[in-house]
Parts: sequence; structure tokens; C-alpha cells
Amino acid sequence: MSKKKILITGGAGFIGSHVVRLFVNKYPETEIFNLDALTYAGNLTSLEDIADKPNYHFVKGDIVDSAFINALFEEHKFDGVIHLAAESHVDRSITDPMAFVQTNVIGTVNLLNAAKAVWKDEMDKHLFYHVSTDEVYGSLDDGGFFLETTSYDPQSPYSASKASSDHFVRAYRNTYGMRTVISNCSNNYGPNQFPEKLIPLCLNNIKHKKPLPVYGKGENVRDWLYVVDHARAIDQIYHEGRDGETYNIGGFNEWKNIDIVRLLCKVMDRKLGRAEGESEKLITFVTDRAGHDLRYAIDASKINQELGWEPSVTFEQGLEKTVDWYLENEAWLENVTSGEYTKYYEKQYVTA
Ligand code: NAD
Ligand code: TYD
Repeated sequence: MSKKKILITGGAGFIGSHVVRLFVNKYPETEIFNLDALTYAGNLTSLEDIADKPNYHFVKGDIVDSAFINALFEEHKFDGVIHLAAESHVDRSITDPMAFVQTNVIGTVNLLNAAKAVWKDEMDKHLFYHVSTDEVYGSLDDGGFFLETTSYDPQSPYSASKASSDHFVRAYRNTYGMRTVISNCSNNYGPNQFPEKLIPLCLNNIKHKKPLPVYGKGENVRDWLYVVDHARAIDQIYHEGRDGETYNIGGFNEWKNIDIVRLLCKVMDRKLGRAEGESEKLITFVTDRAGHDLRYAIDASKINQELGWEPSVTFEQGLEKTVDWYLENEAWLENVTSGEYTKYYEKQYVTA
């Protein structure tokens, strides 16, 4: 019997690389295909440790290219898809919304169409798993949590594009009988995150004694989850999740931005042997993000009760691991912060 084939899109990105690693190592009898366009956010050095494994295959390609995607599905007839490829940064979506429509909406529909074409007579034997974000639910004030039943209310071009792709996935289940599952996760942190996002950006800047740009007053709240725990949740949902269901994933771990930046300063001062309070002096309040969502907070009870998933590390443990990883992987950081990153940074942080 031929081996099962799973297509993971966006596997060279932050979360995708952890999902690919987990699947390649845990399921040696399954062929894992990593499809990634290697945009600025994709980096194959994140996967050097598993690149030579016999069940790992990398395919460079763009999900916006429907002819290419159709041919890929025709060739491999994947048993299942875990779709993570996306434009993922809110600030970039504010300056270039169309790139988000292209990849997040059209790219997702291209994948759905290609899957539908090859799975047509046996939809029940395949699964399309779409990885989404809690940002589709909009912004909370001080009370309450996002539930799987919370109405969609996206506020940024990024979250609007993700919400749109979620709707298409549900529509393909309803209309064509495709087996689908969606998860909506809170903010991730951990090794291999591109330093345009708050935590790695601050770690990189603290290291180089550069200003730490905090938007507005730093009062916005995010719910942080260690990326390896997100990958574990994706594994469980892919294998045990119920058809047509949505699962929220989060760490019950809310932090105001300013508090998290202060904490990062404290940990880095200790690790770098700097005087306590030295890095906090780098904190610089800058112009707020347009339409900045105030608070995200996930209620992750459903995945806990149905699948028994819970985070494996505390925030303190996860942050220690993350800081150590960034300090030990200077070459990775230097590689991704050269070139395009410098131009992006100068444009984004003119006031910092
Ligand atoms: P990322 O930006 O680090 O990685 C995205 C990957 O997709 C990159 O490797 C990039 O090269 C690839 N890609 C982009 N456009 C592509 C295209 N047109 N064709 C093929 N590949 C393309 O993103 P991430 O933070 O790892 O997020 C992964 C997924 O998880 C996204 O769908 C995102 O919406 C979702 N998500 C992220 C978070 C978070 O905190 N980062 C939280 C919840 C959900
Ligand atoms: P980010 O990591 O971009 O994730 P998201 O916008 O998807 O939540 O930002 C996390 C929070 O940190 C968000 O409230 C915006 C804020 N932020 C800053 O204050 N300064 C920065 O330079 C960045 C990138 C983000």
C-alpha cells in the first residue's frame, strides 16, 4: 500500500516549520510535503534538522498560481492538507492589503479548488485543515473571551482576509461535502519567529541596544501561546478533530504589551549580564497602529474538553526557551534581518 501524503503549506514560516518538524518526526511512515513560496517570511534554515529525512519533501511554489497548484494535487493526490501559508503581519496588511487578498483569500480558494478536483469521488476520505487566527473575531474590551461561536468581526485587512478564507473553507464543506476543520489560535511566540512581530523584534532590538517601539500607550492586550504547543494542537485536531468543527487554541495567558516588553527587558538584562533596568531605557512609545485591536483573549475550553489538549509549558518556561534560542541562533537572526528587513524597518518605524 502506498504511504499517506500530507501537504503542509507555509512550512518554511514560523508556525509551519514547527508543524512540519513535528509531523516529519512523529509520522515517519507518512510523506510530508512542505509547500512554500519562500517569501520574506519563509526560511528553510529553520528546518535544517529534518531536511534530509526520507519522508520530508520541499516544494517551492506559490498558492496564488492555480495552474501550478492544480498540477501538484493531480500529481500527488494528497490525503490531507494543513494550510498555514499566509501573509501574516497586520502592519504589512495596512500598507499593502491586496497582497493579503491574493495569498490569504485567492490562494486558499485555489487550494480548495485543487483539492475538490482530485478528491471529488471520495471527499469523505480526505481532510482540509485550515489554520486561522483569533483576530477574525475582532477586538474585545476588558471583559469576555472569544468562543468558537463568537461572530466574526474582523478589523484589519489581515484579519478580514483570514475571515474571508475561513468562510470559503466552510462554504466548500457545505456546498461540495469537503471534510474540513478550522482552528483559530491566539498570538504565538517562540523560536524562528520573524522579527517583525513584537517579541522577536524586541529581543533583536534589546540585543543591539536599539529603541523598543511600543505602539500607543502599550495598553493593548494579547494572549500568548508557545508555538510548539500550537503545533501539538494542530496535530491533535488533524487526527482527532471532528469534521466541520472549529477549535479555538490559546494559553489563557493575557499580557499588556508594555508589561511584556518590560519582562523581555528584564530577562535579557539577566541573560546578557547587563545592569537591571538598563534595557527598559530603550522603550519608546510611538504612533499607534491604525485601527489597533484592544484585546484578544481565547477561551480554549473546547479543545481541552474534547481533545484533552493543554499547553505543555508555562509562559515563563516558554519565554526562557525563546530568549535562549534567539541568543544562540545569531546566524538565523542575521540572515533574516539583512536585506528586505532593513528597508521594511526603516519605512515602518520612521518615528522610532
Ligand atoms: P509566517 O508569516 O511566519 O509564515 C508564512 C509562510 O507562508 C512563509 O513561509 C511564507 O513564505 C509562506 N507564504 C506566504 N505567501 C505564500 C504564497 N503565496 N504561497 C506559498 N507560500 C506562501 O506566518 P506564521 O506566523 O507562521 O502563521 C502561519 C499561519 O498561522 C497563518 O495562516 C496565520 O494566519 C496563522 N496564525 C498565526 C498566528 C501568529 O501568532 N503568528 C496566530 C494564529 C494564527
Ligand atoms: P504583533 O506581534 O504584530 O501581533 P498582532 O498584531 O497580530 O497581535 O503585535 C502584538 C502587539 O504588539 C500588538 O498589540 C501590536 C504591538 N506592537 C507594538 O507595540 N510594537 C511593535 O513594534 C509591534 C510589531 C507590535
